[in-house]
Amino acid sequence: MKPPVVAVAGKGGTGKTTITALLIRTFVAMGVRPLLAVDADPNANLHEALGVVLRDTLGSLREIEISRQIPPGVSRIDYIRLRFRQALVEEAGYDLIAMGRPEGRGCYCYANDLLTTSLQNLTQDYRLIQVDNEAGMEHIARGTVALPDLLLIVTDPGVRGVRTAARIQETASEIGILRTRCALVVNCCGPAHPPLSSYGLRPLAFLPYDPAVEKADLDGRPIVSIPINSPISVAVAGLASEILSLIGDGAKV
Ligand SMILES: Nc1ncnc2c1ncn2[C@@H]1O[C@H](COP(=O)(O)OP(=O)(O)O)[C@@H](O)[C@H]1O
Ligand SMILES: [Mg+2]
Repeated sequence: MKPPVVAVAGKGGTGKTTITALLIRTFVAMGVRPLLAVDADPNANLHEALGVVLRDTLGSLREIEISRQIPPGVSRIDYIRLRFRQALVEEAGYDLIAMGRPEGRGCYCYANDLLTTSLQNLTQDYRLIQVDNEAGMEHIARGTVALPDLLLIVTDPGVRGVRTAARIQETASEIGILRTRCALVVNCCGPAHPPLSSYGLRPLAFLPYDPAVEKADLDGRPIVSIPINSPISVAVAGLASEILSLIGDGAKV
């Protein structure tokens, strides 16, 4: 059975990677495991937020495939499958795979198809797929990553941020993500934020500004090292429960 796919989108710096990492930690602790984390941002950095080492991205596998640096006597398919498995980081309760750059020079059709098929075969084994993205959602647009069942559009609480979120929702609908599958996550909220009615899109969660996140960042520690009782961790736990109730019981324990 195809597991539910939850993705984040939003302009750079709004907190997508932070929220994705904390959601992964929360889901795994809630028993939604094994989970597959997909880093679909070409500038892969989800692994840093999770505190894990990334050996390879699927983008670099594609380069290898195209440049034919394949050892003699090994078929292209076997070689790319082997490297694919090597690119998968296995952690307690979840695995991580980074997509890398969607495209470079040359024709990538064959390699792209192979990667898409490998990813589809791989994803069947998981309870939930959590995808980090860049604003353009290029991997989703190209079909290398599945259309999400729920797209969390992350924004800051300001009016400009909310307008940007509305534009991102338009981009999402252009690539086939229904409006009903989009929800807003307002991040870095202070004690006051605009009323719900001013957001347009359905706001799913208000996540507070949390000095623990900033401190972890400054110290170069992974985001998931912040305490589980810190304000954003508590709010993300609430968000995770909301997500499970929205995507149905499939991912629940
Ligand atoms: N709720 C928060 N409280 C404090 N700092 C935050 C919060 N959310 C994100 N940040 C900080 O904002 C910056 C951008 O976050 P990041 O998750 O990398 O954004 P994106 O992935 O959308 O580009 C990081 O320095 C991160 O530590
Ligand atoms: Mg990011």
